[in-house]
Amino acid sequence: MYQSVILGSLLLATLYVLKRMRDPKLNMPPLVRYKFPIIGHTYIYLTNSEEFLKQCKKEYGEIFSLYLWGEVKTIVGKEHLQEVLKRDDSFDAGIAFERLLPLSVILKHLAKFQNSTKVLKEYVMNKLKTYTERMQKNLNFATQKYIGDCDEPKIISNVYDTMTKIICYPIADIFVGKELSQYEEIINTFSDFTIDAAKISIIPPVLDFIYPRLQYYINCIILKIYNPAVKHQRILIKHLKNQIYKRLQEKEKYGDSWKRPADFLQDLLEEESFDPNNINYAEIADKICLFIFVSIHTTSNSCTHVIMDLTSRPEYIQELYEEQLEVRKEADENGILPFEALNKMKKLDSFIRESLRLSESISTLPHVVTKDYTFANGLQVPKDRAVHLYTDDVYLDESLQGPNPKSFEPFRHLETNASATKIGKNFLLFGGGKHACPGRQLAINEVKFFLHNVILKYNLRTESGKIEGPKMIGPRKFPSEAGIVFEKRK
Ligand code: HEM
Ligand SMILES: *[C@@H]1O[C@H](CO)[C@@H](O)[C@H](O)[C@H]1NC(C)=O
Ligand SMILES: *[C@@H]1O[C@H](CO)[C@@H](O)[C@H](O)[C@H]1NC(C)=O
Repeated sequence: MYQSVILGSLLLATLYVLKRMRDPKLNMPPLVRYKFPIIGHTYIYLTNSEEFLKQCKKEYGEIFSLYLWGEVKTIVGKEHLQEVLKRDDSFDAGIAFERLLPLSVILKHLAKFQNSTKVLKEYVMNKLKTYTERMQKNLNFATQKYIGDCDEPKIISNVYDTMTKIICYPIADIFVGKELSQYEEIINTFSDFTIDAAKISIIPPVLDFIYPRLQYYINCIILKIYNPAVKHQRILIKHLKNQIYKRLQEKEKYGDSWKRPADFLQDLLEEESFDPNNINYAEIADKICLFIFVSIHTTSNSCTHVIMDLTSRPEYIQELYEEQLEVRKEADENGILPFEALNKMKKLDSFIRESLRLSESISTLPHVVTKDYTFANGLQVPKDRAVHLYTDDVYLDESLQGPNPKSFEPFRHLETNASATKIGKNFLLFGGGKHACPGRQLAINEVKFFLHNVILKYNLRTESGKIEGPKMIGPRKFPSEAGIVFEKRK
């Protein structure tokens, strides 16, 4: 009985997909042929995406479709992927992301936070310079706490975990302020929220083989029953209540002589729509959770890639060390660098860009087509189709990357003056167009201040003595978990 229902559904789903693929009105990208019904290209895409996509592109051209997880998805090569990033009237990354992880179910007040990007820009990014000192103090403090003096060589494996903790300190300070960021509980919420929230997306979407997006609907139901973010929201709300009460009291008491805490939370409290007699703590917590979600994992992950590459290639460290010594001369008596010093870390910046360039996944940044779209070459994609960017195609292109695009050449970006935050045709880490990551300057500044300190403070080598490059899981790259040896510079 069950078997026939399942088989029947599979058959129906396949027919449905095939029917849609043959929509006669549109000039669709070619569908790469496949041997196994239902499975389609799923297996080869998961096990050998690098070679597979290269072969597909060679045979089928700039834009082609694959049959993955019971659904036709379109892969867009370097010639046309900027169209996906720039035409936000037709492509939406938010919807695609929501299908992977229903964040709107996890953060219930998100729908009311329509101006999040504007808020981030005005409350944080436009004031980055004023956060320079606190950012460095926090990074230096956390580095000391989690890596330490290392008078004796110290091995740290799974650098990502350590990096996540370190990155939480400056970000928590900027978002909830100096006082709250002293609480271990708050730091833990910052470091664990993303992983807890994203746990459900670890399940491969096997239910999609039965019916398109079935996995998404089931995940939404699971999250409604068990929301992994709730415990973090409770902790945040508890502390926010005390902190907001305290700030309102002190402001009342000291009036004009009150020293306003400069942080994101205070900016929220000064919004016109904020009503001290009717405070929606859950909404404030959700806003902070959204920024935790987009900032901590991304920054720690990138920073881990860079430090693994740096440690793996000791031949470049001396040159970077000399640059940092030079930059160091600008530090004040507390060892704090001025904001402008970031621009003088040119070699480090280029190293970071190179490391990030080669740590990007084979294909990334899915977008959903929101209305039928015709690419410049005439091929068309229907509404609702998922479109993936063929990132590797960009990174393997000599005209975009310079000679030997596959090899790690840390100073290749010095000649082109492309800084690590610069988006464009040859660098997709931060997306592009209107929706390009608005937090990228914050992320890169943190990575630079952190590495400045690390390069001056420690000798680094991999425990294995070998290059520990990114590890592939399916089409995605993750930083290696191999050990790094930190030892105090003598
Ligand atoms: C190395 C670290 C980071 C990486 C790799 C990264 C990457 C990205 C990417 C790929 C997007 C999507 C762009 C698109 O749709 O075209 C994005 C969006 C976004 N990022 Fe980042 N990001 C990083 C750090 C941060 C930080 C530190 C913050 C904030 C504090 C942040 C806030 C955001 C926000 C709010 C969006 C949504 C923008 C929109 O939809 O208009 N990101 N990021
Ligand atoms: C964002 O929206 C809120 C209302 O929900 C408003 O009070 C605030 O001023 C807006 N912020 C910006 C930077 O536009
Ligand atoms: C890079 O910057 C330097 C100095 O700022 C300038 O002389 C050079 O022409 C620039 N190169 C490119 C390719 O823009």
